[in-house]
Order: sequence, then C-alpha cells, then structure tokens
Amino acid sequence: MIIGVLSQKGGVGKTTIAVNLAATFAKSGLRVLLVDADPQGSALQWSAARDAEPLFSVVGMAKATLHRELPDIAKDYQVVVIDGAPRVNELGRAAILASDVVLIPVQPSPYDIWAAAETVRLIQEAQQFKENLKGVFVINRKIANTAIGRDVTEALGQFEDIPVLPAALHQRVIYAESAGQGLSVLEVEPKGEAAREVASLAKLLMTKQEKRKAA
Ligand SMILES: Nc1ncnc2c1ncn2[C@@H]1O[C@H](COP(=O)(O)OP(=O)(O)O)[C@@H](O)[C@H]1O
Ligand SMILES: [Mg+2]
Repeated sequence: MIIGVLSQKGGVGKTTIAVNLAATFAKSGLRVLLVDADPQGSALQWSAARDAEPLFSVVGMAKATLHRELPDIAKDYQVVVIDGAPRVNELGRAAILASDVVLIPVQPSPYDIWAAAETVRLIQEAQQFKENLKGVFVINRKIANTAIGRDVTEALGQFEDIPVLPAALHQRVIYAESAGQGLSVLEVEPKGEAAREVASLAKLLMTKQEKRKAA
C-alpha cells in the first residue's frame, strides 16, 4: 500500500503524520519506506536527528517523476508513506499519482478548509488516469469539545467523494517534542494518547485498503 500524505498547504501536519504513521506500521512488523517528496527535506531532517536504530528507511525523492520511479522501489516494501510537498503542483501531482490512498491533513481552521479544495482538485484530476485512487481527510491538531472542531467535519462534507476519517489527531506537544529527536510518539510514550490515536489512524487505513482489495 502506498499512502501519500498530501496537501497543497504547508504546516498542516504532513511530515508529523507521515513519520508517525511510518513508525507505527514499522513497529507492527511491516517493512516500511518513508519517501520525502518535499524539497524542504523535513522527513530527511527528522531521520538525521535520530540517534536510535532506524525503524524504517527514508529516501528523498522530491521529483515530478515520482509516480514513474516509485512502483519499482515500492516492491520491496509492504507499506510506503509519502511525505508530500506543499504548493508545487508538479510534485503534488506526481505524489498523488504514485499513491493508492491520499491522506489530506486538515486543521480545524477555515484556511485549511479553503486550501483543501485545491488538493481535492488535484486528486480528481489524477482519478481520470487512476480510477481506484482514493482520497481521505484526517483532522489534525483537533482541540476537544470546540465548535470549530465540529464545524470542520461539517465543512469538509462539501467534498462528497473524500470522507473524513473517524480517527483525528489532537493538538499535543509530544508531536513536536518527539520530532526534535527523530523519534515517533510511539517510541517516546508507547502507551500515551498520541501513540493510541496514530495507531487508530494506521489501523483504519489498513482496514480500508484490505476491504478495497477484497472488493
Ligand atoms: N497534532 C499536533 N499537535 C501539536 N503540534 C503539531 C501537530 N501536528 C503538527 N504539529 C506541529 O505543527 C508544525 C507543522 O507540522 P508539519 O508536520 O511540519 O506540517 P507540514 O509537513 O504539513 O508542513 C510542526 O511544528 C509540528 O510539530
Ligand atoms: Mg512537511
């Protein structure tokens, strides 16, 4: 399975979600590759900051030809997670075309909802070439029991083909703190709330993919 974590907007949590998902899949025993498709190289920096043994491989591939090159490399892995680049449409398009599932992080903010429209448009464009490409939203930095938290799910309902996954990540300092040491939340606090919510997201993505394969 190739999961593209993508949004045309920066700062929504692509890298945070990509490294933590990759770590969670790897800890569950899967062979995982994390592709840094952002020229900024944040996932590579995360990996360079790490002293601990690597849980998975990280490669930099910020290329408009990613969709052509990745299938061959992906064969050696059970899960590939792409950390996408914001803004640059050629890179976004290549990453979307390379993916089986595109995960779009959205923060509970009107700016993120407006920006989501652009990523959705790229997905719809790509679906003309790749019919079974799937897009899903994940709410990131959710703050419990706020009106804006509820509004965001409602506002995303306008994108009919792209469901909001029932597995949100909340606003938690551990996401930033763990990244500084090149670690995942799962390694810093294996039984913490953050590790649990990332595990729920990983499980949901895996189940959805298995169901699709069976269909
Ligand atoms: N759920 C979260 N809780 C707290 N901080 C977060 C969360 N998700 C992301 N961040 C922080 O927000 C900033 C942007 O996240 P990042 O993953 O780099 O976004 P992107 O890759 O989309 O640009 C980083 O400083 C990151 O640590
Ligand atoms: Mg990033």
